Amino acid sequence: MVAKKDIDEVKEAVSGDVEVVKPVKKKVVKEDKGPQLIDLPGVGPGAVAKLEAAGIYELMGLAVLTPSALSDMAGMSESVARKAIQASRKMMDMGFVSGLEHEEKRKELFNITTGSKNVDNLLGGKGIQTKAITEAFGAFGSGKTQLALSLAVGVQLPLDQGGANGKAVYIDTEGTFRPERVRQFAEGIGANADKVLKNILVARAFNSDHQMLLLDRVAELIKEGEPIRLMIIDSLTAHFRAEFSGRGMLADRQQRLNRYLHNLMRIAEQNNLAVYVTNQVMSDPAQMFGDPTKAIGGNIVGHACTYRMYLRRGKKDSRVCKLIDSPDLPDNETVFMIETDGLRDIDV
Ligand code: GTP
Ligand code: MG
Repeated sequence: MVAKKDIDEVKEAVSGDVEVVKPVKKKVVKEDKGPQLIDLPGVGPGAVAKLEAAGIYELMGLAVLTPSALSDMAGMSESVARKAIQASRKMMDMGFVSGLEHEEKRKELFNITTGSKNVDNLLGGKGIQTKAITEAFGAFGSGKTQLALSLAVGVQLPLDQGGANGKAVYIDTEGTFRPERVRQFAEGIGANADKVLKNILVARAFNSDHQMLLLDRVAELIKEGEPIRLMIIDSLTAHFRAEFSGRGMLADRQQRLNRYLHNLMRIAEQNNLAVYVTNQVMSDPAQMFGDPTKAIGGNIVGHACTYRMYLRRGKKDSRVCKLIDSPDLPDNETVFMIETDGLRDIDV
């Protein structure tokens, strides 16, 4: 549960100029959260600590493990692990829900404006969505990071202004997070730039292992009560690509990327937050007709991301944004400009 006070803190950042109160680390109230790992048979505090060290905080994380994986992780016998997994599945009431219930669940989703009405419309009208991964891929300078910074401001807006009253986490793999650009974007919508910057939690990921570990830290922050509604990974693939560059390493790279994307999706679904990832492109020599540009990571990334946008430079320094293979939206494209004080729409 996100405390009202945290939401007020975010509201202040985008409207009033009351001094921001430091986030108060709250004890998680058990009753609010439903059954916890510790409630499972055979899972004691020691096993919980080991599971948490492996990034598993919730029943869902445990329910999807195999008995042998759990027994390795938590140092318990396979038969105890099997019982714990079965119990977690029961407690979570895993299984089918009716289409109607599914529709109800989807009403909990938040949307976050990109700052451009054109791009918001391309994404169904209201920008990116929680419980989903939205990927932007494109060449350098195509606007992937600018869109990320704009979203980090947008998420802080109240619901009726296209935001989600939340904070953003920014995992920066290439040192391209620019606070001065956030200031410009914040000032562009008349918000208090200092407060907007305070609501963006930035971490530099130095390699792919570190990038992986930072996800656990995000899960902890949420558990501590931070009202995080957006997680940005800029860039998703750069470290993986650099570290696993040899020909024989492709399978390894893909496997690790796959695991990372699954963890991202799990955090997004469990905490109702939006994930925005950026991705580079490469030229595909096999493509003889049309645009030879391909996103890094191939099908693994393509399938794991709910929404994919391809960004490229258009006429007169505009940016063309194309939606690709969406589960529920038509393939379409739109145009916007990157200006000093934010993204600006131009006629399509
Ligand atoms: P890589 O990370 O290199 O792959 O590229 P990217 O897609 O993340 O590019 P990014 O989003 O950083 O876009 C950079 C482009 O944004 C620049 O080439 C400029 O065209 C534009 N841009 C950045 N800052 C400003 C600014 O202050 N004013 C204006 N008008 N444009 C800006
Ligand atoms: Mg960038």
